[in-house]
Amino acid sequence: MPDERPLILILGGTAEAQRIAADLAARGANVLTSLAGRVKSPKAIPGAVRIGGFGGAAGLEIFLRTRHVAAVIDATHPFAAQISRNARIACDAAEVPRVQVRRAPWARTAGDNWIETETVAEAAARLPEIGSRAFLTVGVGELEPFRNLADVWCLVRVVDPPAQPLLDGPHLTLAARGPFAETDERALLQEHRIDVIVTKHAGGAATYGKIAAARSLGIPVLMVRRPPAEPGDTCAPEAAVAWVEKGLK
Ligand SMILES: NC(=O)c1ccc[n+]([C@@H]2O[C@H](COP(=O)([O-])OP(=O)(O)OC[C@H]3O[C@@H](n4cnc5c(N)ncnc54)[C@H](OP(=O)(O)O)[C@@H]3O)[C@@H](O)[C@H]2O)c1
Repeated sequence: MPDERPLILILGGTAEAQRIAADLAARGANVLTSLAGRVKSPKAIPGAVRIGGFGGAAGLEIFLRTRHVAAVIDATHPFAAQISRNARIACDAAEVPRVQVRRAPWARTAGDNWIETETVAEAAARLPEIGSRAFLTVGVGELEPFRNLADVWCLVRVVDPPAQPLLDGPHLTLAARGPFAETDERALLQEHRIDVIVTKHAGGAATYGKIAAARSLGIPVLMVRRPPAEPGDTCAPEAAVAWVEKGLK
């Protein structure tokens, strides 16, 4: 029998998306989470899951129409700007309500030594003048600007163990999946004598441990600024369920 419940599409790939799917599924909603397919074995997600790109904004629009999607929750990572842009264009065209979930940015507090950059490439260019033992947590797809750094030793943290060396210069790869606790992060920084961290300003709690650890150890952080949200509705992760319930009344 066809499912008569309105279909909620969650654009995922984050812990927040997983929690929203769980909350909606627990309330009996018909949820479908979409993942890009970057991670080899994603964590289990309640409700239905599909994996892979849609084929740009036009492909997503077709998907929304053919699957009769009632609402879209864009809970992708703050740096996943392309899919968020596609979601805005496709939802506008198909007249499907959309909200972009924005996790709280990290607040800079006393003792933080952040050097902000606009791009990962800019962070890589500035790295040698700031430290000689770097902890890179920018994501496996963003390592190209660091590939030929000869004078900086890098500890590179990624989710999946890579098949090939990630950099040409001296480095060690660590495959690990968050959340990461501050005490563990501090121990890691000390063990590898890290003197600079490179990160994207992801915000949220899951990867904040390294920021707090850097502060306590007096380590500078090259912080890549977040891209702005897409125009349209935004909400905090914990407000996404209420957004759906209000919209579908
Ligand atoms: N960027 C990060 O730092 C980061 C960190 C942690 C998790 N993630 C997650 O990893 C995924 C990919 O990130 P990204 O930065 O590569 O994205 P992106 O640059 O914004 O998107 C590139 C393309 O990947 C596909 N895509 C992205 N997210 C998708 C989703 N949830 N479902 C279906 N297709 C998706 C789309 O392909 P088509 O055009 O073919 O539809 C999109 O045009 C996102 O879902 C994001 O939440 C990203």
